[in-house]
Formats: sequence, C-alpha cells, structure tokens
Amino acid sequence: MQTMSFVENVAQELQPQPARSVYFDLADGQASARELEMAEYYLSDQLVKAAHLESDLPERMEELGAWMQAGVEQVGQSYRSYLDARQAGGARRYFTNKSHALCFLKSVAPTKLVDGAWLYGLLPRWQDARFSSLIKTYLEELGEGLPAKNHVLLYKKLLTSQGCQRWDELSDDHYVQGAIQLALAHHAERFLPEVIGFNLGYEQLPLHLLITAYELKELGIDPYYFTLHITVDNADSGHAKQAVDAVFDAMPKLGDAGDFWRRVRNGYKLNLLGAITNSVIASFDLEQEMMAIFKRKSAIGQHAHSDYRRVAGRTVNDWLSAPAEVAAFTAAMEHEGWFKRHQDPQNSRFWKMIQSEKAKMFGVFSAYEQQVIYDWIAGDAASEFTCTASSARLPQRRLPAETKRRLLDAPQPEQVADESFDNDFDAEVRALEAKLDASANQQQTMSMLLALMSPANHHTAPGLKATQIFSELFAAAS
Ligand SMILES: [Fe+2]
Repeated sequence: MQTMSFVENVAQELQPQPARSVYFDLADGQASARELEMAEYYLSDQLVKAAHLESDLPERMEELGAWMQAGVEQVGQSYRSYLDARQAGGARRYFTNKSHALCFLKSVAPTKLVDGAWLYGLLPRWQDARFSSLIKTYLEELGEGLPAKNHVLLYKKLLTSQGCQRWDELSDDHYVQGAIQLALAHHAERFLPEVIGFNLGYEQLPLHLLITAYELKELGIDPYYFTLHITVDNADSGHAKQAVDAVFDAMPKLGDAGDFWRRVRNGYKLNLLGAITNSVIASFDLEQEMMAIFKRKSAIGQHAHSDYRRVAGRTVNDWLSAPAEVAAFTAAMEHEGWFKRHQDPQNSRFWKMIQSEKAKMFGVFSAYEQQVIYDWIAGDAASEFTCTASSARLPQRRLPAETKRRLLDAPQPEQVADESFDNDFDAEVRALEAKLDASANQQQTMSMLLALMSPANHHTAPGLKATQIFSELFAAAS
C-alpha cells in the first residue's frame, strides 16, 4: 500500500473540509475536538473569501443607524412597487409554480434548521451587559422555550407539512451558510467581531423575505415562519435594531476600534457566501427536478414492476435499471400517452396511477415529488386550472393556514392534564429538573442549561425547558 508523504499529509490537513462535512459534524452536537478544530479552520477560510467581496456597509461605524434606516426605506419602496405590479396583474417574481416554492423550502433547510446558531457562543457571557441584545435575539430565535415560537421547530413543521423532509441530497453550496453559522456558534471566543457582523447582516429585513411570504401564501403554503421574521426583524425595536446596538455595545473602549470594525464588516460579508435566497430561487429547473426524482426512484423501482408492463418495447424494470436514461424513459412514456403534457394532469394516465389512495402507485411519491410531477405535466397550461397537486387530490380536507395553526398550537389534552403524573413522554424534562435540583452551584446549573440550549438541542423537550428556565434567569438579571 502506498503511504502519503509528510508534505501530502500536511497539504491534506490544511484543506478546508466541504461545507457539508462541517455542517453534519457540528449539527448533531457531538463534535470531537478535531472536528471543532476543522470547523474553525473552515470559518477562517470563509472569512478570507468574504474579505474579497464588496458590501453595502458604510465605511464609518457612526453611519450605521442611518444605513439601517435607509435600508428599511429602500426595502419598503421596492416592496410597494412589487405589490403595485402584482395588483396590476403582473406574474409572481420568485416562484413559477408550487414545486418551485417547495424546492426553495427544501434547499434552504440546512440554514433554517440551525436558525440563530451563530449567537449560541455568547450565552456563557449572559451576565455581561455588552452582549444582552445579542442574547435576547438568540432567546427569541429559540422562542424563549415555547415550541410554537421556536424558529427551528416551526421550520421543521413547515417541511413536514409540505412533504419536504428529504433535503440531504443538496449540493455542498447549500450547506455553506449553515456550516458558517454552526462554526460561529462554537468559536465565538475567537471570532466575536465576526459573530456581531454576521448577525448585523442576517437580522436586517430583506426584500426577499417579504416577497417570499407573499408568494408562499398565494400558493397555499403557510408563510408563518417568514411572516414571523418580518415582525421580529423590525428596525424600530426588533432584531435589526438589536444587531446595530450590539456593534456599539461591544466596541472596544481601549483596544483597536478600527480593527474591530474591519472584522465586523468582514463577518457581515459571510452572509453573501454559498447558496443564498436569491441564488436558490434562480437555480430552480423543473425539468431537472423531475428527472432527479425519477432517477432516485429507479433504485427501488427497478425490481418492483412486472415484465408485463412495457414502454417502447422495454420492460419498466429495464428502463429503471439505467438511471442515466430517465429522460429517454419519460419521453417514451409521453410518446405512448402516459403523460399528456401542457394539459390538466387529471387527463394523464400516469397521474391517475399515483394520485388517489386506491391508485396502483399510491405512496411511491412524496407530496413534494407529486407536486413536481403535477407541475411538469401541467407545463404551459398550469394557469388554466387548479395549480396544486394536493388540492387536486384532497379538496375537501384543506383548512385555512390560520385555523390549522390555531388548532395545532392549542394545548393538547394530556398537556393540560395532571402535570405531576409521571409518564414516559416527559421523562427527559423530569430528569433535567432533578439534575437542576441537585446542582451544587450556579455555575453547574448554567453549564447544564447552556449545553441543552445548543443548536443541536434547544428544540428538544429538555432543550425547550432549559431555554424557559434560562430566559427567566436572564430577564431577572437584566
Ligand atoms: Fe429566526
């Protein structure tokens, strides 16, 4: 076996990891010392990349307040123009159809499922007034321990409700923002100005958030996760204002304020790396997504059909055993009348085979995949009939998003029943309470709470409980 030379070894050691590796190393909360070290190196490398980018931040820190206000006004005006154009009959700006919107939700999942993570490393400084506004922002990202307000849980619910849970096949670019946020979470001690700068960029209200919320609602997708951010990010008292305050609160009084501001500016530019909202939306390709679904299904489908079923003289199993030929396969199916493109999908034999509960292929395709197939068949004729696969299938079962949320957020019977009753569902929360009762001192209590408030844990039952307790202590101390 050929062994690597010392030089090759060193070169490999210094190669930054792919974003995906950093993301999954840190996302489970079990990172080793070596993985944390590689995440730090990854972050340093991203900061070198960020340093080469332009940004709209002012040269002087004193201009930050005016910069924020100007941004708010510009976003407001642009949104007004967008609304005017839509009200005058203009087309959606972002999402060509529902599958486009769902693909967007899936594509930003690695980022949204670590929402707020970049501020985690500030928690140990909870008694330091300089970081109060940042810690407050972190607690609000966590919904102060309330499941119905925890941003990560809200996003998980959204993905599940739309059949978009499978997002692990995304390109490395899609993990860059999440990897940066998790790396900042674990290395705040070394990258404090960069954390503050990243937060400054992330918490300003962007135009894309407003348009996304508007168009999701229009397509029958609950926009609550996005509308929630419109209100919490506001520039008067919300996260945007807290982010600006945090820059001034943390500015060194004796140290090099110029260098601090340079590093804040560089951290701000981390927001521009990898796949971000606008690039994700622009990269959607319905044809590619349709082919990717057929390729994925070919792995399990190639042994699932009888030899009786033939398309263009070949068995379906034979077609599916060659994933590279999915385009030829779907073209052959179309040629034989399985799909009637650019017509109502209800007229297509293939759609009928997958869409009803008694259909031969019921359950083969997820809700997301069905929507892609539906939109692909509908093609140019989509505007002439109902535009969602789910409404075509289950019109009588749909509830308005607001009603649905009210019902889901209402306390469940077992939750409002006798809380002293020991049951397995609450075992972890009781274990936490017992540990806290047995805690020897405040330092031990805090380290227990902080471990449970990490990006990996804060959305679990003990994580939510720990956040509630911490929020109370923090409010009392502020
Ligand atoms: Fe958030």
